[in-house]
Amino acid sequence: MAFTSQAHNYNYLSSLHLSDGIATTRSGRRRAPTVAVRCKMAGTTTEYEEGQLEMPKWAGETPLSRLVGAMVSFKPLYSLLKLGARQVLISTAEKKNIQWREMTRKILQSDVHKEMDTILNPSIQYPDYYLSPFHAYDEGNLSWLAAAEAEPATMSMVFRAVPTASSVEEANEIVRGNWLRAIEQQHQQYSDNSTIRDILDVGCSVGVSTRFLADKFPSANVTGLDLSPYFLAVAQFKEKNSGHPRKNIVGWIHANGENTGLPSQSFDVVSISLVFHECPERAIVAIVNEAFRLLRPGGTIALMDQAPKSKTLQELSPVLFTLLKSTEPYLDEFYLTDLNGSLKEAGFINIQTVLTDSRHMTMTATVPPR
Ligand SMILES: C[S@@+](CC[C@H](N)C(=O)[O-])C[C@H]1O[C@@H](n2cnc3c(N)ncnc32)[C@H](O)[C@@H]1O
Repeated sequence: MAFTSQAHNYNYLSSLHLSDGIATTRSGRRRAPTVAVRCKMAGTTTEYEEGQLEMPKWAGETPLSRLVGAMVSFKPLYSLLKLGARQVLISTAEKKNIQWREMTRKILQSDVHKEMDTILNPSIQYPDYYLSPFHAYDEGNLSWLAAAEAEPATMSMVFRAVPTASSVEEANEIVRGNWLRAIEQQHQQYSDNSTIRDILDVGCSVGVSTRFLADKFPSANVTGLDLSPYFLAVAQFKEKNSGHPRKNIVGWIHANGENTGLPSQSFDVVSISLVFHECPERAIVAIVNEAFRLLRPGGTIALMDQAPKSKTLQELSPVLFTLLKSTEPYLDEFYLTDLNGSLKEAGFINIQTVLTDSRHMTMTATVPPR
C-alpha cells in the first residue's frame, strides 16, 4: 500500500486504502483496518507503505519479541543497550543539525527550575509504571536531564519518521501536519463543524504537541497536561520565552491523564500524542475512559502513536528494534492493546485510523452527540 509524499504544499487526501488483513490482539479482538493517508507534495518523493504483517515480528508475544525481551532484561546487557540507544538518538539528531547538546545545556543553565513553584501538584500520586526507568533515563521522565533533552529527542523522532526531510520543519509538516489535519477532519465531519473552543493535550511533555495544537487552532483554549513536573516546567518556560504572543495563553496542568480531576464535558478535543507506547494497557484504557468523560457530546479524541502496520517499523533492523525495545518497557503491551476496542468500550463512535507518516498512525473518534 503506497503512502506517497513530496516536500511542500501537500494536500491531505484521506480514505484512500483499506488494509485487507485484520489482526488479532491479546484480548482476542480483531484489529481494525488502517487507512493510509496519501500526501501529495511538490519536490522530492517519499513512499510510505504498510507492511505485510499486522504488527512487527519484534513486538507483542512472538518468539523474537520474547528473545529480545529476555536480552533486554539481562542487567549488564541492558546497561550497554541503554548507552547504545542514547548514542543513536544523539547522533541521528546531530547528523541532522539538531544541536542536541547545546539545546540541553541552554535549558539546564536557565531559570527553568523557577517554574516548578507554579507547576508542581504536591498531592500527585505517580502510577507504578511511571516510576520505572525508560528512554535510557534511570528516573524515567522525572528528571531535569530528561526534560532538557525532550525537545531535541522529539526533533530526532520526526526525522526518523521522515528520513528524507531536509529540515525539522519539513518533517513536522508531515508528522504533525497530518495528525492535525486528521483531528480537524474528524471534527468537521462528525461534530457538525462545531467550533473547537477547548483542547486538552494529555501527555504534553515539554509542550511540543501543545504548541502545534495552539498554532493550528488559535481561537481555542489549549491546555497541556502531564505527569512530569520537570517536563511541564520546561513547557511553561519555553512558551513564556518563545517571543510568540498568543491570543489565548496555553495552560499547563500537573496531573494523571487517567484521573485528571478536571470537570466532565469541558473539552471539544482531547489529544493523546506519542503517549500510549509508554503505558501499560491498564493505563491506556483508563486514559481513554477519562478522555470520554472530559469531552463534550460531539467532541473528538485523537490518538497518535506508532503504527503496528507500518512497513518501516516491521522492517527495522535487529540492532534498531533491540535498541528501541531496550528503552521502552511497555512497547509490547502497547502493540497488544486493542485501541479500537478500548475506544468502542468507552463509548466512542466513528473511529478512524490513518497512517500519518512512515511510522505513526492517528486514530480519531467522536463522543456521540446528545
Ligand atoms: C513521548 S511524550 C509525548 C510527547 C508529546 N505529546 C508529543 O507529541 O511530542 C509522552 C508523555 O506522556 C506522559 N505521560 C505518561 N503517562 C501519563 C499519564 N498517565 N498522565 C499524563 N501524562 C502521562 C509522559 O510524562 C511524557 O511526557
